[in-house]
Amino acid sequence: MAPIFSALAVVSAAALVSCLPASSPQQLNDPTYGPVPGEADLYNNYTGKARPFPGNTTAPINATGTGVASPDDLLFQNLLSAEWAIYSFYQQGVEAFSEKDFTDLGLPNTTYERISQIRDNEDGHLRIFQDQISSNSVKPGACKYNFGFDNAETYLALQVLLEVSSMAFLTGLVQQAKLNATKGALVAIAEVESRHNTWALIDVWGANPFSGPSDTVYPYANQILDITNQFIVPGSCPAENPVYPSPRQNLPPLSFNMSTSTGEPGSKIDFVFLDATNVPKFDDSQGYYAVFFHGVNNISVPLDTKTNSSVMPKEFDAARGITVGVLADEEGAPTLESVVAGPVFLLEQPQELTRQI
Ligand SMILES: *[C@@H]1O[C@H](CO)[C@@H](O)[C@H](O)[C@H]1NC(C)=O
Ligand SMILES: *[C@@H]1O[C@H](CO)[C@@H](O)[C@H](O)[C@H]1NC(C)=O
Ligand SMILES: *[C@@H]1O[C@H](CO)[C@@H](O)[C@H](O)[C@H]1NC(C)=O
Ligand SMILES: *[C@@H]1O[C@H](CO)[C@@H](O)[C@H](O)[C@H]1NC(C)=O
Ligand SMILES: *[C@@H]1O[C@H](CO)[C@@H](O)[C@H](O)[C@H]1NC(C)=O
Ligand SMILES: *[C@@H]1O[C@H](CO)[C@@H](O)[C@H](O)[C@H]1NC(C)=O
Ligand SMILES: *[C@@H]1O[C@H](CO)[C@@H](O)[C@H](O)[C@H]1NC(C)=O
Ligand SMILES: *[C@@H]1O[C@H](CO)[C@@H](O)[C@H](O)[C@H]1NC(C)=O
Repeated sequence: MAPIFSALAVVSAAALVSCLPASSPQQLNDPTYGPVPGEADLYNNYTGKARPFPGNTTAPINATGTGVASPDDLLFQNLLSAEWAIYSFYQQGVEAFSEKDFTDLGLPNTTYERISQIRDNEDGHLRIFQDQISSNSVKPGACKYNFGFDNAETYLALQVLLEVSSMAFLTGLVQQAKLNATKGALVAIAEVESRHNTWALIDVWGANPFSGPSDTVYPYANQILDITNQFIVPGSCPAENPVYPSPRQNLPPLSFNMSTSTGEPGSKIDFVFLDATNVPKFDDSQGYYAVFFHGVNNISVPLDTKTNSSVMPKEFDAARGITVGVLADEEGAPTLESVVAGPVFLLEQPQELTRQI
């Protein structure tokens, strides 16, 4: 980046963030307080490393009323908690890296700028979700997050996975929404996550970005949100935050053995339970299934509970989008309660990144 451009960017960034008096978290209860998403460049192309508003105000925003909650408050509390993790992932990337870290990998010189712009969009999501929660409910604050990336390359691998998983949990959250306006807002957010992912697939991975005619629908969104708890530093969440996600099933975390399983259609898959203290208890008198969700359908394959293995459905198109796998005690996992472990993401694209979360 030419020095003159970055000097201008800093001036412009300073102008954006200095126009408000010091804020207390409670002032954020007013949706007109601070830059408004859709009306402020802060959420589009702020280039500073310093945390922008409202990402800089990490304390929870207490409820100011005691009336009944708005019908979708719980949904947006869950989504805001998830967004704090996603925003923090990009904020940490903006702070940790520079343009050169990415060009050194042979990537386009716009890569860092895009990461910074995605950070800005995610920052705008924080504000949108805060505004959607009524003042009769607490607006969750940030925890501390450890994503475990150690360089720009591992960072970018995780980036695709986070965008793909956010597209998947939004397909579930929209099914919980009570208000039509909520459904519209969630689709609009999913469309933006999809653009972030499309950019990464084209510019970073040099891949065909198309995921097939439909991305993957998974109805039990809170089970996916629960997986993001692995990024939260234990005990670091504000005491006022509600349980995340709420309600939380705390299902056994599921993965697969990457040295014996490729995740390719028709291949054997050996499941692995990641937490020895939280594994499913299989009842010998009944059958279990690995249920794979891909596109708008799911396919069940019997689970061998002696080996914890199953077979990837051969019907699914290879190398397109994601498959979400769960273990269930009923074919098709028709209810929330029928899921006994998971979910696990099988990222089919880009191929070289096939891995579990
Ligand atoms: C960025 O890369 C493009 C082509 O890939 C080049 O034309 C442009 O000059 C580069 N910009 C900077 C600031 O290096
Ligand atoms: C952000 O975009 C606006 C509108 O195009 C432009 O006026 C502004 O200079 C840009 N800011 C930065 C930091 O690039
Ligand atoms: C966050 O940024 C806003 C806008 O620049 C500023 O008014 C506020 O004081 C900042 N809050 C904190 C806690 O730094
Ligand atoms: C929010 O409520 C908690 C107690 O529930 C209190 O400790 C905290 O000071 C309050 N925060 C603000 C900004 O009023
Ligand atoms: C949502 O939209 C449908 C179709 O327009 C309408 O029938 C229904 O009443 C709306 N629901 C709410 C909660 O507003
Ligand atoms: C994965 O499979 C390999 C080869 O069979 C085995 O050595 C290893 O223990 C397995 N890993 C797990 C976590 O089960
Ligand atoms: C299968 O999973 C169960 C936990 O439900 C575990 O006790 C058992 O050791 C696993 N079997 C194999 C072969 O990994
Ligand atoms: C999976 O597919 C079956 C058959 O179409 C359907 O009955 C079931 O509801 C689906 N499961 C979920 C969780 O959508």
